[in-house]
Amino acid sequence: MRVLLLGATGNVGSRLLPSLVAHGHSVIVYVRNPSKLPSPASACASAVVTGSATDSAAVESAILSHECDAVINAAGVAPVWGESGELPTIFAAVADAVEKVQERRGGAPLRVWFLSGFGILDHPAGRMMIDYIPVYTIHRHNFARIRDVPKQKLAWSLFCASTMTPRSEAVDYTPKPGAGAEQLVAKVESPPAWSRTLLWIPLLGKYFNVMAQAAGYAAPLEDCVDFIAGDLQAGLESQYVGHRVAVKVKSKSS
Ligand SMILES: NC(=O)c1ccc[n+]([C@@H]2O[C@H](COP(=O)([O-])OP(=O)(O)OC[C@H]3O[C@@H](n4cnc5c(N)ncnc54)[C@H](OP(=O)(O)O)[C@@H]3O)[C@@H](O)[C@H]2O)c1
Repeated sequence: MRVLLLGATGNVGSRLLPSLVAHGHSVIVYVRNPSKLPSPASACASAVVTGSATDSAAVESAILSHECDAVINAAGVAPVWGESGELPTIFAAVADAVEKVQERRGGAPLRVWFLSGFGILDHPAGRMMIDYIPVYTIHRHNFARIRDVPKQKLAWSLFCASTMTPRSEAVDYTPKPGAGAEQLVAKVESPPAWSRTLLWIPLLGKYFNVMAQAAGYAAPLEDCVDFIAGDLQAGLESQYVGHRVAVKVKSKSS
């Protein structure tokens, strides 16, 4: 696919770039400060567009002029506490741009992955994880922006990551086929292999249940980006379109 990647100078986006290329995609990187892109990153990309991710019209123009059929948003950072910062503006700007492109072009929507957070996954007690451990709550706001948008207008997925830790601090921009996705088990709407441990404890059981398990969903960043880049090969046929997606390292999943 032809992918517009926002946030390519960040932890996630920088690793997504070579992974997307390794999976056969052409990547147009959209950054606000191209001088932060190391030369191997620029060499890896098909094109570099300069702009702010808060500027919906500029994102729309980049998608149209580069004839993109997919977008990944890794731009913006969720604050741990509170709902400050630019992420909601970025999220809405990207969603608006994608919907406008679909209206303008007609026909198939763009395939879009948004980086999101673990907290908006469903808990077996019936609410979101975030209701028990209220951190990174901004992701709930972003989910609300797209959850009812028809798939025919915006073929979205939310990557609901817990902590993603790189195996290597240095980014290797050489596109190499990876087997990272094979190390992960995935599930939609709620975390894979979630246990009902401690739920029996009156009143505080749900809080203990989340606290006891959330850290076990940390995954290597390289594997997570391989998962997203590999899924994009399925395009609009992906089983993850219209879903919140959670992953867990297979060896920790039982
Ligand atoms: N890393 C994790 O473990 C983790 C876990 C769960 C969820 N997430 C989510 O994944 C996303 C990416 O995380 P990250 O760790 O890669 O963050 P990061 O390293 O801080 O990168 C953020 C990226 O966003 C870009 N950006 C910010 N504002 C922008 C704007 N107005 N226009 C264009 N680009 C802008 C930054 O560009 P500059 O370089 O120009 O500042 C940078 O490339 C975030 O939404 C985060 O909440 C991350």
